[in-house]
Amino acid sequence: MPTLGVNIDHIATIRQARKTVEPDPVAAAVLAELGGADGITVHLREDRRHIQDRDVRLLRQTVRTHLNLEMAATEEMVAIALEIQPDYITLVPERREEVTTEGGLDVIAGGKRLANVVQTLQNAGIPVSLFIDPNLDQIKASADIEAKFIELHTGTYAEAHQEQEQQEQLDLLTQSCDRACTLGLRVNAGHGLTYWNVYPVACIPGMEELNIGHTIISRAVLVGLERAVREMKHAILGTTP
Ligand code: PXP
Repeated sequence: MPTLGVNIDHIATIRQARKTVEPDPVAAAVLAELGGADGITVHLREDRRHIQDRDVRLLRQTVRTHLNLEMAATEEMVAIALEIQPDYITLVPERREEVTTEGGLDVIAGGKRLANVVQTLQNAGIPVSLFIDPNLDQIKASADIEAKFIELHTGTYAEAHQEQEQQEQLDLLTQSCDRACTLGLRVNAGHGLTYWNVYPVACIPGMEELNIGHTIISRAVLVGLERAVREMKHAILGTTP
């Protein structure tokens, strides 16, 4: 079964609501790891609306599992990543107006420029994951530019209300994962996954890691972060707490 990367951006969102020092994402990462998180994910956005540079620096020193830095493929972010050296990087599209990451990267349109960013980071020893829609052309383009990983966008699956549509999206994710593995890519997935819809995605053969934020932090507000993470580990494994 896949491992669990816990996205702690929302902890920083609460802190930035008052521009104070609490709650600290560094403390949240410790609790998430105590709850069984296999990795910690943060998105350093260009507008710094939640995670700050200081958070990424401290997390680099304190995270005991692995640190996945989500970022846009910009010169500024590449320079920060090369300095901080996260365990891996997930490249995502970024638009200032968006509430959260909407849609996957267009790797085909990204062309040589995106290929250069991937190469620069990977030559520095940081494996790169490309956050893409479950689309066979995007998967092929990701393999062509030799990214080590892709992260399949599960948003459409998560938003499907009808059972049939959900099954179609699950089939698409399964085919995409299979195709990516055949091309030598390692496969993660995430976005919109919840305690209720995660298990079928966790069962996709070849899936390595699920990156999950909103549902865990929402539950954590009510039951505490350590317990919320432990319960997600059970949801992925299909076991009861
Ligand atoms: N993966 C990526 C690339 C994301 O941008 C996000 C949201 O920040 C997630 C996973 C987690 O999504 P959610 O918060 O809906 O679980």
